Amino acid sequence: MFKHEIFERNSLILLIGILVAVSIGGLVEIAPLFYLKSTIEKVEGMRPYTPLELAGRDIYIREGCYTCHSQMIRSLRDEVERYGHYSLAAESMYDHPFQWGSKRNGPDLARVGGKYSNQWQAEHLIDPRSLVPESIMPGYPFLATTPVDIQAMTAHLKANRTVGVPYTDEMVENAAADLRAQADPDADHDELLARYPNTPIADFDGNPAMISELDAMIAYLQMLGTLVDFDVYKAEENYR
Ligand code: HEC
Repeated sequence: MFKHEIFERNSLILLIGILVAVSIGGLVEIAPLFYLKSTIEKVEGMRPYTPLELAGRDIYIREGCYTCHSQMIRSLRDEVERYGHYSLAAESMYDHPFQWGSKRNGPDLARVGGKYSNQWQAEHLIDPRSLVPESIMPGYPFLATTPVDIQAMTAHLKANRTVGVPYTDEMVENAAADLRAQADPDADHDELLARYPNTPIADFDGNPAMISELDAMIAYLQMLGTLVDFDVYKAEENYR
């Protein structure tokens, strides 16, 4: 029989005992972080943002969409039933900075990709109340008339590469060409799709005369949460 009495009667020995126990726990938790390359579980399907999507993401941040919208579905039943599979760490592994957010004046957008048509997204961003009369979301009509800064994307890709996003030299060199190809249904898409699989291609804002900030924003919204194929990723049992 182990003599608990020694610990219970002598506070100094108890203190040392606690320190030993906590240190073992700490070692087990902390030591692996020094030799694990990443704590993010790799998931099939994740790819860096295309230049057009990245431009849309930059506008999303610039306009402060995150002040009303989160991009993180928690592993709670009500959230999973409303928005879909809870967010995986890998799904924001290329986000600098991430857009998890903490405010939900509007719905979570982590899986809004494909929920509506491009036309719906365009009309909603220009004038939310034309589609959702009770909406409190501001309109962003100027996105439709502002051309996206295509040349700037080369530097954006490079900046993201510095912080660990695996953009290749080829991707950086072709940033402008890839951006144009994604917004033009008549362009040649072979190279774009080889570099960025599962990329939706469209004239997102319905105006072929210009690649606007609205094109970029819709391209970004339409890919959110669509990269991981959850039929393949069978984690369902984890929360059922
Ligand atoms: C003042 C808060 C607010 C801001 C800022 C805001 N939104 Fe919203 N958003 C809402 C609300 C509320 C709704 C729900 C009503 C509606 O659909 O208009 C919504 C709905 C949406 C939807 C539809 C979501 C769904 O699942 O039905 C999208 C997409 C969206 N917003 C994108 C954006 C983008 C992109 C921006 C930034 C350019 C933005 N929002 C800025 C409040 C906001």
